[in-house]
Amino acid sequence: MKKSVVELNDEFSSAIYPLKGEFRNKYHIEVPNGLINDPNGLSYNKGEYNIFFQWNPYTCEHKYKHWGYIKTKDFIRYKKPKIMLAPDSVIDKDGCYSGTGKFIDDKLNIFYTGNVKNNGERIPHQNIAIFDENDMLIKKKPLIVGIPDGYTEHLRDPFYININGVYCMILGAQNKSLKGRVVMYISKDMNTWDFYGEINTKLDDFGYMWECPNLININGYDALIFSPQGLEKHEFKYQNLYQSGYILGHYNFENNTFMHNSFYELDYGFDFYAPQVFKDNNRIIMIGWLGMPEDNIEKESPTLKNNYIYTLTMPRVLKVENGRIKQSPLEEIKLLRDKEILENKNMICERHEVNIKNRCLEINLELEVFADFKYILEFKKEKIILEYKSLDNILILDFTNLNKGKNGVRKVKMPDNKLRSIQMFLDVSTLEIFINDGEITMTSSFFAESRDVNLRISSDKEFKLNSYRVWNMRGFIYE
Ligand code: FRU
Repeated sequence: MKKSVVELNDEFSSAIYPLKGEFRNKYHIEVPNGLINDPNGLSYNKGEYNIFFQWNPYTCEHKYKHWGYIKTKDFIRYKKPKIMLAPDSVIDKDGCYSGTGKFIDDKLNIFYTGNVKNNGERIPHQNIAIFDENDMLIKKKPLIVGIPDGYTEHLRDPFYININGVYCMILGAQNKSLKGRVVMYISKDMNTWDFYGEINTKLDDFGYMWECPNLININGYDALIFSPQGLEKHEFKYQNLYQSGYILGHYNFENNTFMHNSFYELDYGFDFYAPQVFKDNNRIIMIGWLGMPEDNIEKESPTLKNNYIYTLTMPRVLKVENGRIKQSPLEEIKLLRDKEILENKNMICERHEVNIKNRCLEINLELEVFADFKYILEFKKEKIILEYKSLDNILILDFTNLNKGKNGVRKVKMPDNKLRSIQMFLDVSTLEIFINDGEITMTSSFFAESRDVNLRISSDKEFKLNSYRVWNMRGFIYE
């Protein structure tokens, strides 16, 4: 028997934070139990950030998708996670799937996909729910039911935008030739929605489904961010099961066409998918799902013994520079810095090593390297290695020396620049790496056993550490 929203929230309000479990993160969002995936409904109003996410509050399987909710003013103190939408009505009975949030006249409107399956046939519903005075989300009549001609039942993840006064909704889609697409619906009054067509791009044959589209202007450039499925693996790209990335250029609403350059991935680690972006007063902020739905790996996650799995990435600020999106950790994250445990400046070394009795760290290096270079996180016998091959300008994230969780390597060719800086956020079981001020990011979960970490640097030639700083990190506070 499934529980009501009220029953679930009663249960979750009594959860005691920090939550118990060997691999519980300190400064990444954690829920008492179940599976979380995509960030949803990201929105900002009057100093408050709303973060929703896909949450199965019962088991660690991709079933019973609800919308979880946390709220924060500073990205440090959070309201305890609770459930805001449950798949408890005919318009969403097989899952309250992903979508976006938008403040319209100071009221938070939630656009989401109601997954409905009748006798094996999937009938996507694009739904709206609006916050009432008591901060409850009230579901309204669905905005769009079914699929437009030429497309399959895979139509989901509404992203709402207002273009020149027209209400627009873009959706991840698959056409009848089983190719991934983004389509748009428009409305003048929020009640009647007309199919406006497909956003024309140059990516005709680019995977079988595009999930979670976002359309946003980032310092003068239009960006279409989406998560394509079904791209063929290459040595330096598309190495995970599914991808997330973007095209940049100019979107023309009149002819629904996006003039753009190449598709670039947003992250090159093992666990990053279905990101969503939103604006606050002056920033474009992105949060991703820190996960990847690989069946066999999911089933072996060491967190399952505590009946939970996955988290979200740290929020990142996006900017466009030299034709690419650059990501930097939100300024507020600096407030999580606790004691500074290492501060070195202007050193020339052949190697460097420091042992730290904690593994919630921010590591910040500005450096010059003249040969192959390795930054190694040693957890007793287990290791994570970030290797830089200077001649070819290649970065390799090597997880082959870990016993549990993700294994293997992820490789990326850096855009023209040499390695200049490495910033790492190490939490109990997540690692987020920002290279060259966020030109490249690599995000992963990891499950090394040791709580201490040895940070070791080695290179084939002397290297210069212009600055090398390490801080202990504090955990979030849940209220
Ligand atoms: C992406 C996704 C979305 C869908 C949701 C369901 O991870 O598959 O397309 O709405 O997850 O949880």
